[in-house]
Amino acid sequence: MIVPPKPPAREGRFSLWRYVRAFRRDILSANPERLYRAKMAEFRIPFLHTFLVNEPPLWRRVLTEAPMDFPKSPRMAAGLEPLLGRGVFLTNGAEWQRQRRIIDPAFEGGRLRDTFPAMWAAGQATVARLQAAAGPEPVEIEAQMSHSTADVIFRTLFSVPIEDETAMAVFRAFRAFQGTQPLLNLAAFLPLPRWMPRFHRRATLRAARRIRALTAELVAARRAAIAAGRAPDDLATKIMTTRDPVDGRTFDDAEMVDQVAVFFLAGHETSASALGWALYLLALDPDLQDRLAEEAGRELAGEGVPDFGAISRLKLARDVFREALRLYPPVPMMVREAACPAEFRGRKVETGAQVVVSPWHLGRNPAIWDEADAFCPARWQTPGGRAAARDGFIPFSAGPRVCTGAGFAMVEGPLLLALIAQHLRVAPVEGRVPRPVAQLTVRAQGGIWLALTRRAG
Ligand code: HEM
Repeated sequence: MIVPPKPPAREGRFSLWRYVRAFRRDILSANPERLYRAKMAEFRIPFLHTFLVNEPPLWRRVLTEAPMDFPKSPRMAAGLEPLLGRGVFLTNGAEWQRQRRIIDPAFEGGRLRDTFPAMWAAGQATVARLQAAAGPEPVEIEAQMSHSTADVIFRTLFSVPIEDETAMAVFRAFRAFQGTQPLLNLAAFLPLPRWMPRFHRRATLRAARRIRALTAELVAARRAAIAAGRAPDDLATKIMTTRDPVDGRTFDDAEMVDQVAVFFLAGHETSASALGWALYLLALDPDLQDRLAEEAGRELAGEGVPDFGAISRLKLARDVFREALRLYPPVPMMVREAACPAEFRGRKVETGAQVVVSPWHLGRNPAIWDEADAFCPARWQTPGGRAAARDGFIPFSAGPRVCTGAGFAMVEGPLLLALIAQHLRVAPVEGRVPRPVAQLTVRAQGGIWLALTRRAG
């Protein structure tokens, strides 16, 4: 049985001050082991009341049954506002509903099929880059995967590869932005005053401004191309020409800049995190890699872009990717705020209380999963595994605010994994066991280092 790295849990009782310090260091290791099987936890510290809901009926109530009673928490939104403006990731109520009505059709099944050639091209570029990096020196795979998933986003959204000058400039500015965002998940747990996450460092603001200025150029150029009738049929064109079925209006350019920033943030760091961990998990199991390479060789054979149906036949790649999402959900916790009084398990939840749903804890809850901490892709083909998933697998969230890109990510992730396994072997590097920490997404402290070798033939 393979048990991959899990952050050490907190031991013993903490004073408030030590608790705050532990949270600031790393949100994943600040909590005790018993939280993994708890039905609910309540954190009451001065000026802040937070519930972590960990049993299926409770997370269902928050996310799917009464989502309007638990809108996104402004404590979380504040940290991302300089980058995302009023993007769909942050808004609530009628504004958010309108945004989803325009965006969602671009991510429906038929459109996903249309984006497939662009994803395929990004996959080919990834293989070429990794083959060039293969050799005696270990490779930091998280950075490689960020590059690949940014490439996927640019190719599918704007029909340009990441090597395009503007795309590369956005990508670089984004790295600067995320390096300065330590406070994000903490806001729900720490008695930071509400203005605290707004207290952005100058570097964060500068990076956000640069990303938005570059994005505005892309949007303006696309607007002109649409008007001239020479726009490519990609996600940007689709979204910019879709009218809200209710009010009949399309996004204006400012609204579109906000959404592009969201796609970039929500759509590449998350997939990169999942792929980095999936490749580490594969590195621990050489036999599984061989089976994956065999599956890829069979299903993706032939010249040119395979038919889209091949994706549904990459069963093993999909199971590995899902298992990575279960063990290392890129968005480890989601934060909502009670908009009206409620009651959870007999405890009063007052308006303004913070409510945390934790894919991280659900994915490793031993009351839900057999061998919860073990890497076992085969579980996805068992009735028990599928039943556990209904209760404990929400890496894309659930309910009306479910990730818009979930279907997209479930094509991109298995495809890239399959292509990489087909052409390369990955192995762990001695002395470099990655330790998961929650940054903007779940990352390894110091990166994930792997030895890459080309497969023969
Ligand atoms: C493995 C990859 C991904 C994971 C694990 C993931 C996860 C999530 C989660 C958990 C949320 C909800 C956050 C919350 O409620 O606080 C979310 C929202 C969102 N995601 Fe993803 N995501 C992934 C990939 C993508 C991709 C590829 C795109 C677009 C191209 C995307 C676009 C979005 C958008 C637009 C939202 C906001 C939806 C809303 O609030 O209504 N995501 N994602």
